[in-house]
Amino acid sequence: MKTAVVTGAAMGIGRAIASRLIAEGVHVIAVDRDETALEIAAGELGDRCEPLVGDVGDWATHERASDAAEAAGELRHWVNNAGIDWVGGAHEIDAGHIERGLRVLQLGAMYGACVAVRRMLPARAGSIVNVSSIQGIAAFPRYFVYDTAKAAILMMTKSIAVDYGPFGIRCNAVLPGCIETPMTHATLPPDLDREEALRREGLLAPLLRVGQPEEMAEVVAFLLSDRASYINGAEIVADGGATARCFAYPPLDL
Ligand SMILES: NC(=O)c1ccc[n+]([C@@H]2O[C@H](COP(=O)([O-])OP(=O)(O)OC[C@H]3O[C@@H](n4cnc5c(N)ncnc54)[C@H](O)[C@@H]3O)[C@@H](O)[C@H]2O)c1
Repeated sequence: MKTAVVTGAAMGIGRAIASRLIAEGVHVIAVDRDETALEIAAGELGDRCEPLVGDVGDWATHERASDAAEAAGELRHWVNNAGIDWVGGAHEIDAGHIERGLRVLQLGAMYGACVAVRRMLPARAGSIVNVSSIQGIAAFPRYFVYDTAKAAILMMTKSIAVDYGPFGIRCNAVLPGCIETPMTHATLPPDLDREEALRREGLLAPLLRVGQPEEMAEVVAFLLSDRASYINGAEIVADGGATARCFAYPPLDL
């Protein structure tokens, strides 16, 4: 049986990815540091979802996840998805803020990629997807650390793709726009009701709506699969066209 490691799988995009892979018959090691949320998700996702509590900022979490994946079958897929919303401009943060943010957002993905390639090399087969963000290519105000880490993930993706493509291991990045997840809910203005706040967020994309986690899971599942067999080192933007437009112009009057 093919197995996958998905980090940040208790909710949001990671949970949707886990669900999508399970529907394809993959056994998923669902990694998350939120034990309660992970337990709920695993209960709903069924037997093919194996929860593993851990922090991606610890190298050992990735080793444990790999051990679990190898015990259950052949580790072929790895998704570095776990992330945190990390707000702060350079004028207002300190070294601790930078280190805590990078630990999850950048080191977590780097550790995951290192462990994944080591475990995939013996079989000369595997596919890794790193969840970056459109903030890896365009800065949002007051997201100094997050923007930087998401950009670093793009170069890390290329580095892995170049080094291990010759050995049957592909690595690609997905760059979501604004997606309706618990992370996004937490950033909405508290004075607006959720539906109205999401509607306004949606106007930032030419598709005039925010994206759904399942729409990201579809892209990730494709990149992981053999259907994407010649895609390596790519950056797939899935943002409803938000970064295709220079300014937030209103739609045409047609
Ligand atoms: N939601 C968006 O609009 C959006 C846009 C672009 C990129 N992203 C990226 O997509 C990924 C998923 O985001 P989401 O919106 O689903 O977030 P979310 O907050 O809804 O879910 C993230 C999950 O990751 C887990 N997590 C956080 N830190 C962890 C750690 N150190 N170790 C283990 N697990 C940890 C959380 O417990 C949570 O279950 C993130 O990397 C995020 O930066 C999200």
